[in-house]
Amino acid sequence: MKLNTTLFIVATMLLAACTGNTDLTSPDGEIKVSLSLSQDGVPHYQVSAYDQAVINESELGLAAAEAELGNGFTIKKVSRSARDEQWEQPWGENKVMRDNHREMAVEMENGQGVKLTLRFKAFDDGIGYRYEYDATAVADSLTIIGDHTYFNFAQDGMSWSIGSYFSGYELPYREQAISATENANTPFTFKMGNIYGSIHEAALYDFPEMNIYRQDSLEFKSELAPRPEGTLARVGAKFTTAWRTLQIARNAVGLINSSLILNLNEPCRIADVSWIKPQKYVGVWWGMHLGTHVWTMGPRHGATTENALKHIDFAAENNIGGVLFEGWNKGWENWGGNQHFDYCEPYEDFDLEKIAAYADEKGVSLWMHNETGGSIFEYERDMEKAFAKYQSLGIHYLKTGYAGGMPYGIRHHSQRGVQHYQKVVEKAVEYQIMIDAHEPIKETGIRRTWPNMMTREGARGMEWNAWSEGNSSTHLCTLPYTRLLSGPMDYTPGIFDIYYDNGRAMGMEPWNGDNTKVFIKTTLARQIANWVLLYSPLQMACDLIENYEGHPAFQFFRDFDPDCDWSEALAGEIGDYIVIARRAGEDFFLGAGTNDEPRTVTAELDFLKPGVSYQATIYADDLNAPVITQPDGSQAPDKTFYTIEKRIVTSDDTLEISMAADGGHAVVFKPVQ
Ligand code: NOJ
Ligand code: CA
Repeated sequence: MKLNTTLFIVATMLLAACTGNTDLTSPDGEIKVSLSLSQDGVPHYQVSAYDQAVINESELGLAAAEAELGNGFTIKKVSRSARDEQWEQPWGENKVMRDNHREMAVEMENGQGVKLTLRFKAFDDGIGYRYEYDATAVADSLTIIGDHTYFNFAQDGMSWSIGSYFSGYELPYREQAISATENANTPFTFKMGNIYGSIHEAALYDFPEMNIYRQDSLEFKSELAPRPEGTLARVGAKFTTAWRTLQIARNAVGLINSSLILNLNEPCRIADVSWIKPQKYVGVWWGMHLGTHVWTMGPRHGATTENALKHIDFAAENNIGGVLFEGWNKGWENWGGNQHFDYCEPYEDFDLEKIAAYADEKGVSLWMHNETGGSIFEYERDMEKAFAKYQSLGIHYLKTGYAGGMPYGIRHHSQRGVQHYQKVVEKAVEYQIMIDAHEPIKETGIRRTWPNMMTREGARGMEWNAWSEGNSSTHLCTLPYTRLLSGPMDYTPGIFDIYYDNGRAMGMEPWNGDNTKVFIKTTLARQIANWVLLYSPLQMACDLIENYEGHPAFQFFRDFDPDCDWSEALAGEIGDYIVIARRAGEDFFLGAGTNDEPRTVTAELDFLKPGVSYQATIYADDLNAPVITQPDGSQAPDKTFYTIEKRIVTSDDTLEISMAADGGHAVVFKPVQ
């Protein structure tokens, strides 16, 4: 597919230099950001929305060892432009996007001759700003030692976030007052009065990620993931940071429907994107987390030729595009030890050539897995040879992993980590490889520029249900409003063996602690709904394929298409519930989920094409499920009970969505011929 950028209005108005007015307003006039300089020439900004203050006057600026980057500035020039254009992407929640914003570039200089342009963009769904420094008058290169970007919240409210940690994101979400949050990673989502907002970053390259740390009751300051020796980054004397972003909406789902992060990224840099394709997949995966299988060679080895062929057959028979293999390559004995993995050499019982040929015959894509254990230098050394081999075998999908510490105390989210993840993405382009990264750097919308960076983990995903207290339905109702604002997530949804009965019958052997009480904390219908709710262009049905064979509810996944054309979050509140509709081709899909409260929500079906009748197949919680003793000893309705109902509907209809506690609802709408 050739990317087609249709410019329907571009109004670029470079106004004459004017230093008087440094306010910028969104196209609809509702969101405003203003820049000012303090008496000692320190830039400050403030943000308001819908006539209410959101961020009170807050300092801006970085600090370097070699040059003064923070103060003494005077404004030299203010230029403005505006743009309203449509652009397309090869895949995404929405394929056609609109970028409608106003821009202001404030050019400043200080006594040392350091030039700083603060560039602001105001959209109807929020603002972004970034630093563009030129310190060539003072130094050849800079050591960044501080970030003085502040967020001084105008009033207290609730917030949803994970705590600050620079080597991973697999933490439980916290719902707490803004003023009770000591520190947080981003997206940092909040509700202040009637305004919903979220702080994050867009287009993060060659620089550490930003977390925010509370200084005073409502004042937060940026902290960057440090280098091992304590400084923050090494940059050239001329450098540009990521955009610091603030999404703003009048309701919670407005944050999900925002396209601010992607609009602040650069257009696609890959000339031919025809090989980049969304896909459904299954894998030799969950068994290793349950302990019915293992990654290493031996009697319980998961990635054997026999098992591979069985999975390929299953995929081919069930309209599933790909199969992931973990534990196919030599080196797993070293995981958690010296972390040496071989990315080319399969174990003796995994006949890669034969499997690749069989997959090709069946029209199924093979997914290779490269767990690095965090060994980024070894991976950078070996990845090209591996990618060339995969390409020669017709393999285009790759899941990477960084489960382990990086060498020399390098943090995953530091500048070196960010550089590493990007190197992999760019090298993969040369070999037409799409990436699904686990233990990744957070998504900042780079998928627009590098659409082979399809999906990533970057939050507590399904695996935690195998070996911890698991993920609650509240966690699942929080992800769409937090982690997923940054971009797609490979949560790996879809466990049907809710209580692991079959897993235990198959010899489940816990590899991480006492797993007698583990189980899935949602109903089966919710597991189905998560395929719609937790957006990923590469969407997995993660359970053992034995648990899908002959299961009537698996028809949903057969029918599901993750290659969306359009999406809209219809209703929800953060941590409470969520309803999302998507269209892929002529079919529509709806997903809904609730927290531990049973809930009924009414959805208008006016997103369907008018005048067309659809057969709706509705996968719902069985509200008459018997109460049983759950593995943790609590009494609750059996979560495996569900119903399937078929009905003819049109865009004039409404749908009553009744969900059990921890429940969900999923609908496939197919046009009636
Ligand atoms: C953690 C990943 O999230 C998981 O998907 C994978 O199976 C293990 N690491 C092993 O690489
Ligand atoms: Ca993980």
